[in-house]
Amino acid sequence: MTSIEELRHSPEQLRARIAAELERARGRSRRLTDIEHEELVRQHSPLMSPLVWDYAHIGSQEELWLVRDVGGRDPVRPDIDAIYDAFQTKRADRPSLPLLGPEEARAYVRTVRDKALDVLERTPLEGRRLVEAGFAFGMIVQHEQQHVETMLATHQLRVGAPVLDAPEPPPGTAPDAPEVHVPGGMFLMGTDLEPWALDNERPAHAVGVEPFWIDTDPVTNAQYAAFVEAGGYDDERWWTPDGWAHRVAAGLEAPQFWENGHRTRFGHVEPIPPEEPVQHVCWYEADAYARWAGKRLPTEAEWEMAARFDPATGRSQRFPWGDEDPRPEHANLGGTYLQPAPVGAYPKGTSPLGVRGLMGDVWEWTSSDFTPYPGFTMFPYPEYSEVFFGPEYKVLRGGSWAADQTAVRATFRNWDYPIRRQIFAGFRCARDV
Ligand SMILES: [Fe+2]
Repeated sequence: MTSIEELRHSPEQLRARIAAELERARGRSRRLTDIEHEELVRQHSPLMSPLVWDYAHIGSQEELWLVRDVGGRDPVRPDIDAIYDAFQTKRADRPSLPLLGPEEARAYVRTVRDKALDVLERTPLEGRRLVEAGFAFGMIVQHEQQHVETMLATHQLRVGAPVLDAPEPPPGTAPDAPEVHVPGGMFLMGTDLEPWALDNERPAHAVGVEPFWIDTDPVTNAQYAAFVEAGGYDDERWWTPDGWAHRVAAGLEAPQFWENGHRTRFGHVEPIPPEEPVQHVCWYEADAYARWAGKRLPTEAEWEMAARFDPATGRSQRFPWGDEDPRPEHANLGGTYLQPAPVGAYPKGTSPLGVRGLMGDVWEWTSSDFTPYPGFTMFPYPEYSEVFFGPEYKVLRGGSWAADQTAVRATFRNWDYPIRRQIFAGFRCARDV
């Protein structure tokens, strides 16, 4: 697919692409909310919103940014702004709010979308930073796709008969070697060029990295099971003090959703596939595994260098495979299979250094705190990322099987608390030379 950067000087093509991406995102969010009324309004976990909240919130953000701000139109539903403002209402409290019911929510998001598409037709996509190359539309596409991933996490936590099904992912292949040597040096991290990149990915800046080794593939279920069987959860040596305290308090014994050699995935109980990247482990578990294995988690800079740096040209690519937008053969993205693929299933997605499976499959925990890059400027609102900067969040990279290609890049930064494991996160290890 042609990149947004290449489309920026063809307004009609850019508009058509934006409309298609909005429609694709809506197809996914509709699919996850096309379930019984009771399932939509129930809170399946105190960590998550009722699905009907997410759905109307998607519409609310679209109304705020595209209809009101970009379009300068009258509000559709000013009376519900507070209910759907994620900063005014905690997730745990959302079920007790006077939420729109499923039918009302569906009608609301449809009305907003009709207006947003009309705004898209009539707005010049230049002249104002918010609309340059369709940025605000891209931000809203990414927002909806990010909520699709959140809603998939809610579906995973839901108890009861399965309501989602998917085909089997492609088969894996063995790596040539378990680790890749990265020679280190200077490389360009972050981006100035990606039109839809968010503020925390900017600006591009040179970073020096010491030589290191990084795992060719993410840590698999079989590798992680060896840590569990070796008593890794009972041995305080492998855990940081905070990690050990959390392990004990939360009673962690294995990845979430594992039980008796089986796992539960969207209501299906199945044997744990040995060659699939492990997921549903928190940062503390990933960190403990790495220490047990005689390794450590990679820093965010190391991860990005392994993913983007081409030693032949000295350049940082947009993606591990090059500069083209993701195609199905590059990475397991977009929720097609509802699970990670076995490692090595996407040889075309290998990075120039020979590292595999960097995009898609599982978000990968890094050792880094979520902090601004040098020269960071907030845009377009502080609640996207600025208010989260600090040591309490760890950075995740690469996107999961549930992430959409519009919402991942080799520069894309995700973040979460080190105790979170309902997200589709795993990790790979690194070590010093
Ligand atoms: Fe949101």
